[in-house]
Amino acid sequence: MALRLCCAWIPILLLLPGLSAGGKLLVVPMVGSHWLSMKEVVEELSQRGHEVVVLAPEVRWQMEMTQNYKVVTHPVTQTLEELDNAFREFVTVLLTDKPFPLNAIQAYQVSVEFFSTFFGQCKDLFHSQETLRFLNQSGFDAILTDPFFMCGAILAHHLSLPVVFFMRGLPCNLHFSAPQSPSPLSYIPRTFSFNSDHMTFFQRVENALISLLELDYCNGLYGEALKLSSEVLQRDVSLTDLLNSAAVSIMRFDFVFEYPRPVMPNMVFIGGVNCAKEKPLPKAYEEPSKPDKQGKE
Ligand SMILES: *[C@@H]1O[C@H](CO)[C@@H](O)[C@H](O)[C@H]1NC(C)=O
Repeated sequence: MALRLCCAWIPILLLLPGLSAGGKLLVVPMVGSHWLSMKEVVEELSQRGHEVVVLAPEVRWQMEMTQNYKVVTHPVTQTLEELDNAFREFVTVLLTDKPFPLNAIQAYQVSVEFFSTFFGQCKDLFHSQETLRFLNQSGFDAILTDPFFMCGAILAHHLSLPVVFFMRGLPCNLHFSAPQSPSPLSYIPRTFSFNSDHMTFFQRVENALISLLELDYCNGLYGEALKLSSEVLQRDVSLTDLLNSAAVSIMRFDFVFEYPRPVMPNMVFIGGVNCAKEKPLPKAYEEPSKPDKQGKE
């Protein structure tokens, strides 16, 4: 089911200029669970005759890939242990129970550290002249990327290519604010406010305060990305500049977790937080729910 939902939007990709005859697509994925969803889409696009190139750092967590597309790696300076440690630290701090505001401050500090470690891989990409030359000379038609660590978005600007985002979302509501979706503070609850879309007066005030802090929060979180993109693009760059140029944003939202809200027409909701093919339940879990031996489920 999830897979079918996932692939339902693929015709949209085919509408991009140049892609309809079998185009050349550069994929800049994100590591970890994000790839589980994206690899299904990348596989389907290559099955449909598109020439797909996946760009990945030489040192990375295991990412299952197939022979159906080309994988281009670029050199990086961090070791696997450094990535593992940054992730372990990140998870440990997020799971530690501390009183407010200590928890928020520590979560912020560890997130900045975590983002900056993983963003180091993107800096290494932009130091690899050989990789950049190859990417520029390959004549891609478009970039498909999960923008969470921003590297694909910066690369799209650098190569002046149309970009398609494929994501579960971004911190600080950026996935809505960058394409300028209306976000009336009285009706759209901010992340971490734990309010619903029916707020009391004081909850609305709280919502407004959180939204004021959001921009600074994300400018800090993506500090390294902003610095690098200003260097690479040789102008001042904001997060909005980096994110508002997506031709299409494919959102892996599950409406169970969302409140209704206004969105932009290039945001396509495909459902399913994760598009990985589900495996059948092990027999042991299925047995108790069967009403009787004859009953067909
Ligand atoms: C890509 O190559 C073209 C021509 O070879 C050149 O004009 C352009 O500046 C290059 N772009 C980048 C981002 O390197």
